[in-house]
Amino acid sequence: MNTRYWTDHFRRNARHRPEPDWQAPIHLQGPAMRKLVRSLQQFQLGDGGGPAYLIAWNHRRRLAADPAFKDLVDLWFTEEKEHSRLLGDALKRFGAPEIRSHWSFGLFCGVRKLAGVDFELQALLLTEIVSHVYYKMLRRHIDDEAVRGLCALIIRDEAGHIAFHRARLAAEAGRAGDRRGRFGEAMFRLRGLAAGTVLWVNHRAALRAAGATDGEFYRGIWSGMDGFLRGLRADRARARVGGGVKTCEELVAECA
Ligand SMILES: [Fe+2]
Ligand SMILES: [Fe+2]
Repeated sequence: MNTRYWTDHFRRNARHRPEPDWQAPIHLQGPAMRKLVRSLQQFQLGDGGGPAYLIAWNHRRRLAADPAFKDLVDLWFTEEKEHSRLLGDALKRFGAPEIRSHWSFGLFCGVRKLAGVDFELQALLLTEIVSHVYYKMLRRHIDDEAVRGLCALIIRDEAGHIAFHRARLAAEAGRAGDRRGRFGEAMFRLRGLAAGTVLWVNHRAALRAAGATDGEFYRGIWSGMDGFLRGLRADRARARVGGGVKTCEELVAECA
């Protein structure tokens, strides 16, 4: 993996970030507003507001073995913390407090700690793919200029995170061979559907109140996983025949 590419990507992405218009008029009210606030509160906690770093029991060993990878993980989580800051400012705009805990996030963190860093990285990747769909649906359906501005920034960052994972997995397969094949892909999709369903259980009300549908969400996450797996397969095939590595810009555009 070309770590220099990715360091440059994160540094570039930290520039030109138009702040959402927090002072824009608020049109939302009633149940639609309350449901949106509950959804944003959970994302504020889960998207960089809780332990915004790897927490698996063996993560330190993995990072110590590869300092360049650790630097990228640091940059990745710096962006996750920024998501929490943006979501916290949206809550302030709506006069709502941040929350300190939620059952789904507690469960997610517990599993990540116990299951080890490889599982954790895959779980985080799947979370990025399904959250990317959530933010795109939020931007499409919620009638609030500041929320749309926040979504635009986070969608852009998450495309970079998904692309970063694709580059990481393609490079790992190049070294160790792709042992998991189609079975691994099927497991990936199953876990993604599970992660997506947990997200949808908690956030469906807010998006449905704004006009989104169940089909839209599930089509979105299926196409996100499908695009990721197809891209990764192509990257691995290219690596096997000694083809060049795609640039960050190309990968991020494919994952947008
Ligand atoms: Fe995020
Ligand atoms: Fe992310």
